[in-house]
Amino acid sequence: MDADQIRAAFLDYMAEQGHFLIPRAPLMPKDDPTTLFTGSGMQPLLPYLLGADHPAGTRLADSQTCLRVQDIEEVGDNRHTTFFEMLGNWSLGDYFKDEQIPQFWTFLTDRVGLDPARIYVSCFIGDDANGIPKDVESAAIWTRLFTEAGVNADQVEVDTEENAAAVGTNGARIAFYGKKNWWCRGGKAENMPVGEPGGPDTEVFYLFPHVQHDPAFGENCHQNCDCGRFIELGNSVFMEYRRTESGFEPLPRRNVDYGGGLARIAAAALDTSDVFRIGLLWPIVERLQELTGRRYEDETVAMRVIADHLRGATFLAVDGVRPSNKAQGYVMRRLIRRAVRFAVELGLEENFFPRIIPAVAGVYELHYPEVATHADEVVAVLAKEEQAFRRTLRKGLNQLATHRDSGVSGVELFVLYDTYGFPVELSTEEARRQGITVSATWREEFDEQMAAQRARSQRSTTLHV
Ligand code: ALA
Repeated sequence: MDADQIRAAFLDYMAEQGHFLIPRAPLMPKDDPTTLFTGSGMQPLLPYLLGADHPAGTRLADSQTCLRVQDIEEVGDNRHTTFFEMLGNWSLGDYFKDEQIPQFWTFLTDRVGLDPARIYVSCFIGDDANGIPKDVESAAIWTRLFTEAGVNADQVEVDTEENAAAVGTNGARIAFYGKKNWWCRGGKAENMPVGEPGGPDTEVFYLFPHVQHDPAFGENCHQNCDCGRFIELGNSVFMEYRRTESGFEPLPRRNVDYGGGLARIAAAALDTSDVFRIGLLWPIVERLQELTGRRYEDETVAMRVIADHLRGATFLAVDGVRPSNKAQGYVMRRLIRRAVRFAVELGLEENFFPRIIPAVAGVYELHYPEVATHADEVVAVLAKEEQAFRRTLRKGLNQLATHRDSGVSGVELFVLYDTYGFPVELSTEEARRQGITVSATWREEFDEQMAAQRARSQRSTTLHV
């Protein structure tokens, strides 16, 4: 099964289980100034998870397009992407662990056909200080499912990833972690603002036994090890708490918030640990191979970065974002410019977006008709930004090269940004790549220049008025 079939199978299965299928929300959240992008399936449903009634009922499902740019510089390995689709289903005070965990299992093992013997899970170890118990209920359900499938169901308590790497898990299928198995927006229980919902989660991983554990990630491999032997496929959050001034209180209803990475499930189904091999990304890579005459095997990182970033930029354009110097537009610009930068590395000296974007759009236009409807406009928006950036790229790179011996300060990075349109993250990355020292205080220096420029433009606006 490839990704398109898995998405369809998930939505069909959820509909069979009484879920109402809702459309994806745009990448740029509506009415939510706290966050730039839709970064998970639950985000557009926040009011309902907090207790409001959803007009479509208590069982919902979708495939949500998401963008997470925190890990942008990790794109290039076999599994990190900034843009992804999250398969999601929600119980708004309806079913709970007893129904949801078997549902998750049936989808993976029966509908997608993954090998039960390669599935490993994690559960929440408990938080005594906040009175949140160890999640023995989820572990008991997993134990039953594993046992019925004829595979071991050993448990181990590891608490932290460091401890797991140090002591090992002895192959236990169910590992209890602490903070890793608490889910809320922003990730950490201690950083949750008052009122924010969250809860313990149970996470599912797929083992790629042919991948050798890399000791750079710790002595022993375990579910949450980052070496690539285990890949997380999805998680079920038992969203039943809300942050208070002093700790947590129960939410009015006990919810389930499930999120599954479509690309990762598709990679598992194809038995590859490389998500770029799936049907949502491979056609873009193939087009890049045609355009460059180079092979993915030799140019893996650059092709992965371009394929990922152009998907994100395409959906941003479809959803109405335009490249600019602030907020979402700035991130879009950064994705586009990074893609161009890596394209130059592949020898693509000419504008190539008009020849690659149709391959990106082609992957999605059947399931997301808005991609087809906006196709020409998307190409025009992205191509214009590519052209503009290519004009300044060479000048900017030459300018950066003049700092080879002296290193580069935040003030100089600001000049590159202001004069040549170099996003500062791109120039610091580029400097590192070229071995040019970046001042330790560049961020402060850069921000100071930026604030001064804002003040100047503020003044000139005032004068004009
Ligand atoms: N909200 C959960 C996540 O994003 C499912 O991982």
